[in-house]
Amino acid sequence: MKYVLIIGAKSELGIELARLYASNQYNLYLAGRSINDLQDEADYLERTFSIKVTLSNLDVTDFISHQKFYESMTIKPIGVIYAAGYYPNPFSAITNWEESANTISVNYAGAVSLLNIISEEFYQYKLGFIVGIASVSGVRGRAKNYIYGSSKAALIAYLSGLRNKLDKSKVNVLTVISGYVQTKKSPKNGLSKSLVIHPKQLAKKIFIAQQEQKSIIYSSYVWRIIMFIIKILPESIFKKLNI
Ligand SMILES: NC(=O)c1ccc[n+]([C@@H]2O[C@H](COP(=O)([O-])OP(=O)(O)OC[C@H]3O[C@@H](n4cnc5c(N)ncnc54)[C@H](OP(=O)(O)O)[C@@H]3O)[C@@H](O)[C@H]2O)c1
Repeated sequence: MKYVLIIGAKSELGIELARLYASNQYNLYLAGRSINDLQDEADYLERTFSIKVTLSNLDVTDFISHQKFYESMTIKPIGVIYAAGYYPNPFSAITNWEESANTISVNYAGAVSLLNIISEEFYQYKLGFIVGIASVSGVRGRAKNYIYGSSKAALIAYLSGLRNKLDKSKVNVLTVISGYVQTKKSPKNGLSKSLVIHPKQLAKKIFIAQQEQKSIIYSSYVWRIIMFIIKILPESIFKKLNI
């Protein structure tokens, strides 16, 4: 009975991942705030794929609750996907500390707090996989959104360190560096199609990469090329750009 834990399961990406893992015969722990909103989806997945779905309320910024949350899972998951995220208004993220702090807490500190606990067990038992959803904004800080970007950069560095440590235990850590995701909340109208991915497509890429034990994937090859160029630009040029 293998379980996958999806943190931030209420996002469209989280739901698509849940459907994909369920259709591949994984039982699910779906975690997030007001998670009972997913009851109908959970019932549907259980009926359709004959699997078990457990909904768990979890606020990733409530660090003190994380150990108890993990202990509450009687059968421990063999994989965890951290899909929780927060994209603040870039202006208020700078002028309002609460916005900055929440961005850092959801995108980075929450992941560290939860994955520190879970990865330790994977390390000891030499079993499991970890997936973290980062962003192209985390590859190089830009004036446009550097609070969000730096929180995702920290996540990328954390996952890199975790991968380096857990490789010895045959535990795979996958970093997903995503460009724009087409969601109802943020429709991304007017952007070139090659830059935007639908949550269902992204979920499929993530599932395949996780099964193939990949380390880092981009949401598309176009983003991989763009970020390669952005990374190698000298700072003297990069700091003058308006991108
Ligand atoms: N959308 C994009 O263009 C884009 C691009 C690159 C990367 N990403 C990343 O992809 C992932 C999914 O993003 P999305 O755009 O689909 O965003 P989203 O709909 O805003 O999803 C974010 C998820 O995080 C959850 N979350 C936020 N704060 C939380 C907290 N304190 N405790 C528990 N859960 C919390 C949200 O739950 P609630 O429903 O309770 O708020 C929601 O389920 C995120 O990691 C995001 O950073 C997105």
